[in-house]
Amino acid sequence: MIPHAQKDCIIAGQILSFHGDPFVMPPTEAVTVRAAALQIADGRIKDIADLAALRAKLPDLPVIDHGDALITPGFVDAHAHYPQTGIITSWGKRLIDWLNTYTFPEEQRFHDAAYAREIAALYLDFLLSNGTTTVTSFCTIHPESVEALFEAGEARGMRIIAGKTCMDRDTAPEGLRDTAQTAYDQSKALIERWHQKARATYAITPRFSPTSTPEQLEALGALWAENPSCLMQTHLSEQTDEVAWVKSLYPKARDYLDTYEQFGLIGKGALFGHAIYLEPREIARLQDTGSSLIHCPTSNTFIGSGLFDMAARKADRLRVGLATDTGGGSSFSMLRTMAASYEIGQLRGTALHPAQLLWLATRGSSESLHQEHQIGSIAVGLEADLTVIDLASTPAIAQRARRSTDVWEAIFPTIMMGDDRAIVETYVMGRAMRPT
Ligand code: GUN
Ligand code: ZN
Repeated sequence: MIPHAQKDCIIAGQILSFHGDPFVMPPTEAVTVRAAALQIADGRIKDIADLAALRAKLPDLPVIDHGDALITPGFVDAHAHYPQTGIITSWGKRLIDWLNTYTFPEEQRFHDAAYAREIAALYLDFLLSNGTTTVTSFCTIHPESVEALFEAGEARGMRIIAGKTCMDRDTAPEGLRDTAQTAYDQSKALIERWHQKARATYAITPRFSPTSTPEQLEALGALWAENPSCLMQTHLSEQTDEVAWVKSLYPKARDYLDTYEQFGLIGKGALFGHAIYLEPREIARLQDTGSSLIHCPTSNTFIGSGLFDMAARKADRLRVGLATDTGGGSSFSMLRTMAASYEIGQLRGTALHPAQLLWLATRGSSESLHQEHQIGSIAVGLEADLTVIDLASTPAIAQRARRSTDVWEAIFPTIMMGDDRAIVETYVMGRAMRPT
């Protein structure tokens, strides 16, 4: 996809608005849908009003009227591995075997900058076809893989958060290892080159404790302390075997989180993927430090990890984002991801409301990434990243939506059964991104 020329315009449809956190307030008061129009100027939302009123006020602006389609903030995927695009849905393994069998061999290919560029472009186009406008992605140990993703994001005007995945232990294969020093040096150089350049944000990225030595975690903790406006992303307590492995590799640590905490890898801006098996001490420290958790439901079912307790973690008042975790996750679609989150909620005994699911995929993720002042809501002053959704995109969805008696019942079939066919348009900074 290539961006169309950016023009100021009016975009109209059924607009999703947030008035609070739907896990704290009644969901239907926190999230509303109403027919309205957005004035887009310089890639931002300048005004929100009735279409007739905006047309009268701004008669020279072109109008794109999406009618009955739902307009949401662009989806924000808070944890993914773009280099795993080519091995998504690899069969039959749990986490450690899945990494060794499928993931590590594929990631070794990213020393080739041309291959990294090819996959980065393919991946971001998949995201745009699925209504995702921002992703937080792991790359590989190769700086070329980071360059490729940020460059592809810049070419599309997308807000991208990414970092070089650091691994220096012999638990990772030889071709995928750096050292404490090269991890520090290469990450630092990438921060200097990309962090806060246009829409790029750098995330310091130790893959997870089992593939880093304490020396590397210490070096990356120091780098984060020197660059506190960066984010820090890693994995935490995804599978029981992994938790036991961490205990054996770090015998002095109080728990899994402590392997990060000892080195300053905790706090506001820390993003912990998965976080299914948490001890009470870990929950308390995550709360005290303002760290974020990222829920990856299609991955948790696909790799057989377990059931994240969304209701409990939101009751703990933790920031929680939603993510595909491609390619451990089995989809590029945040609709499919919301559906899996609903199913895990049911297995945990809580039916998440469609308003809560949409909030998680947009505002919740943006809050987890500390980017809510820029993306994740449709509000005056925010960047005009928008997703336009057809609520009757297939005959099966349409016949169910037709029976609905309120807007949430009309939306829910698309959350549960929708895919990229439901995405009518994806706007990045007010620009329509269509297939070339
Ligand atoms: N833990 C460490 N690396 C990975 C990864 O690539 N995917 C998932 N799902 N978990 C991980
Ligand atoms: Zn991951």
